[in-house]
Amino acid sequence: VTMPGSTVTQTVGAGATVTATATETETKFVDPIDGMEFDTLAELKAHFDSAHGDMGAMPGVITLNVNGKAHMVKVEPEWTLSFVIREKLGLMATKVGCDRGECGSCTVHIDGRPILACCMLAIECQGMQITTLEGLSDGATLGPVQQLFLDNCTFQCGYCTPGMIMAAKVLFDKNPNPTRAEIKLAMSGNLCCCVDYTRIIDTMAKGV
Ligand code: FES
Repeated sequence: VTMPGSTVTQTVGAGATVTATATETETKFVDPIDGMEFDTLAELKAHFDSAHGDMGAMPGVITLNVNGKAHMVKVEPEWTLSFVIREKLGLMATKVGCDRGECGSCTVHIDGRPILACCMLAIECQGMQITTLEGLSDGATLGPVQQLFLDNCTFQCGYCTPGMIMAAKVLFDKNPNPTRAEIKLAMSGNLCCCVDYTRIIDTMAKGV
């Protein structure tokens, strides 16, 4: 529940419902069976599992491994990975441009491969290792590919840059000194609306 004062009631199976009410200062997660309140979904799920485990797992709650951390999140079946990463986990570095698999802005790594997060459903990603742009840095210390792009001002508006860096990282992991042809091929799924491709290729040709 994100709007203060709002209430959401959702059916979770067998006629039971979960109600969450947001106030100015708090959000409560309410057990649909016994009415107990909890501050977090994790606490509610732990209670639900111990008190009503014979009813099965809470529907719709999945665990996503993002940047080395397990996140338990309640999702709807149609929610994309990019939506969940941004709107439910708050990892806003991943950008959504076209939202239909054409621009590459939403590129993340799944098990080390570049994947368009707008074309994956979050529920498909359970058990996989997901990395976003945030996962390439160590706190305030940027990773080598991020630093390469920054040092060479390899962006204009910057909207496509997270996806570019994620795609570039996969290439550099295999080949730290790619040729221009290899760079063009590896980056062919990432569009830049400012059309600054020459700078991107020049930068990447310096290697990491
Ligand atoms: Fe996913 Fe454009 S937002 S490819």
